[in-house]
Amino acid sequence: MKQVNLEWGKLGFNYIKTDFRYVSIWKDGEWDGGKLVEDNKICISEGSTAIHYGQQCFEGLKAYKTKDGKIQLFRPDQNAKRMNQSARRLLMPEIPEEKFIDACIQVVKANEHFVPPYGSGATLYLRPYLIGIGDNLGVKPAPEYMFSVFCSPVGPYFKGGLAPVNFMISDYDRAAPHGTGAAKVGGNYAGSMLPHEIAVKRGFADCIYLDPATHTKIEEVGAANFFGITKDNKFVTPKSPSILPSITKYSLMDVAEKYLGMEVEERDVYIDKLDEFIEAGACGTAAVITPIGGIEYKGKLHVFHSTTEVGPITRKLYDTLVGIQFGDVEAPEGWIVEVN
Ligand SMILES: Cc1ncc(COP(=O)(O)O)c(C=O)c1O
Repeated sequence: MKQVNLEWGKLGFNYIKTDFRYVSIWKDGEWDGGKLVEDNKICISEGSTAIHYGQQCFEGLKAYKTKDGKIQLFRPDQNAKRMNQSARRLLMPEIPEEKFIDACIQVVKANEHFVPPYGSGATLYLRPYLIGIGDNLGVKPAPEYMFSVFCSPVGPYFKGGLAPVNFMISDYDRAAPHGTGAAKVGGNYAGSMLPHEIAVKRGFADCIYLDPATHTKIEEVGAANFFGITKDNKFVTPKSPSILPSITKYSLMDVAEKYLGMEVEERDVYIDKLDEFIEAGACGTAAVITPIGGIEYKGKLHVFHSTTEVGPITRKLYDTLVGIQFGDVEAPEGWIVEVN
């Protein structure tokens, strides 16, 4: 196997060019067979709908190296399904689930030497994306589409171990009540950059978005889903049509119920009822769990467990899910796809 000279322990979440990416083109109603290419530049029409009208969506998932040297993907079928939900929302062609998973496997295999070693905490992040391309001017679906998957080695989110951070409530909305909040489309992220910058300038890790219709319920924590642990040991997470359905969140719900014996509730979480939680966190592929120290609401910081220590349930949830992802804890059926 080829070697790469990277300091695995020092990786952040930054773009590192790897050797191959996958590309497939949709034209005249069908996908071509797809292929691996070495070039990391794309050449598309200046009229592409992805550029002007945001007709694009993407995904994010990781490949993990296990203790015995195997490489595995975590629930890629869920990313395939979510990408197709996003595609349907933006009138883009769906990608057959097998094609999506095969593309991910091909990219990992071709870039095997970029998969960080077990124990470094680092992983190979995969970024599948689907964009409208081809000559076009008016607001309408593109004549052609490109599906591509690239990868980049990334470090563990928390280098010094899990650490709580604080969030503020944003005055901006992330999504409209019947908009594209549940789709993983670029426009949602472009609109989140200003609220994020405001939060960081005020000393917070990021901001929390409330529901766009009533501004009374928690929706998203930056680009992650919220969960709270109640005094009577329930795992509670918001339910709303404008939240991006987090694969990590649904996995944690299963972990809470089946591994930790907790009750699980997906329901409204009111911003003026934070007292019901003794621990809280944000969850997503990048960090798995970001423990929430406190949330600033109406000028006051509401602290859950502590602003410096991670709560015991949050830690157990994190350890169990990360254990499953790296192959140290037995996974529920169908969660792991072996690459080699
Ligand atoms: C807006 C938003 N919410 C939640 C998540 C977490 O989703 P997942 O757990 O599938 O990574 C992400 C990341 O993909 C996101 O961008």
